[in-house]
Amino acid sequence: MPLKLENKVLQLNDKTFEIFIRKEKIQAEIASLAARLEQDYAGKEIVFIAVLNGAFMFAADLMKSFRAPCEITFVKVSSYQGMHSSGRVDEVIGLTTSVKDKHVVILEDIVDTGITMEKLFTLLSVEKPASLEIATLLFKPEAFKGTHTPTYIGFSIPDKFVVGYGLDYDELGRNTEHIYQLKG
Ligand code: IMP
Repeated sequence: MPLKLENKVLQLNDKTFEIFIRKEKIQAEIASLAARLEQDYAGKEIVFIAVLNGAFMFAADLMKSFRAPCEITFVKVSSYQGMHSSGRVDEVIGLTTSVKDKHVVILEDIVDTGITMEKLFTLLSVEKPASLEIATLLFKPEAFKGTHTPTYIGFSIPDKFVVGYGLDYDELGRNTEHIYQLKG
């Protein structure tokens, strides 16, 4: 079935999702995150590290709004299968640039339990960056068990499964402009 981007309801395999955060709201929030980052890092160069796959849309749109000189690189961390966090984090793949003495901002699509971020934070701290902060589009405070609360949060949302705008359900649903929430 073709996927209509303006659909209020999204059917992915056995699950039905309803529209939750519209594209206009997402774009406005990203523009204000970019402005905050520009201000906070004025005179400093940021190395953004975007976490694939989920953060690809967030990273791309943030980069389009962020006007100061910066670097961006992409890593992959696998810790999630289906709808429940497995609580396991595999290795970080793809960090080829040195982050030593650099101002690093990790870009995540969503921080849920915080396990992925905790692991990534520890692994990157070893590289001795000048500073290390987390920017996430979505944050689930009720599910969070980590110690590093993201400094930059787009939307704090209830502990309910969401898809779209980069986020998937069994690898489906990443290709939408809105964010959808599991129905019921
Ligand atoms: P955490 O380690 O529990 O914080 O989970 C982080 C990862 O789990 C994210 O990068 C997502 O890939 C995935 N994840 C967590 N919650 C959701 C959700 O509601 N929808 C889709 N993916 C999610």
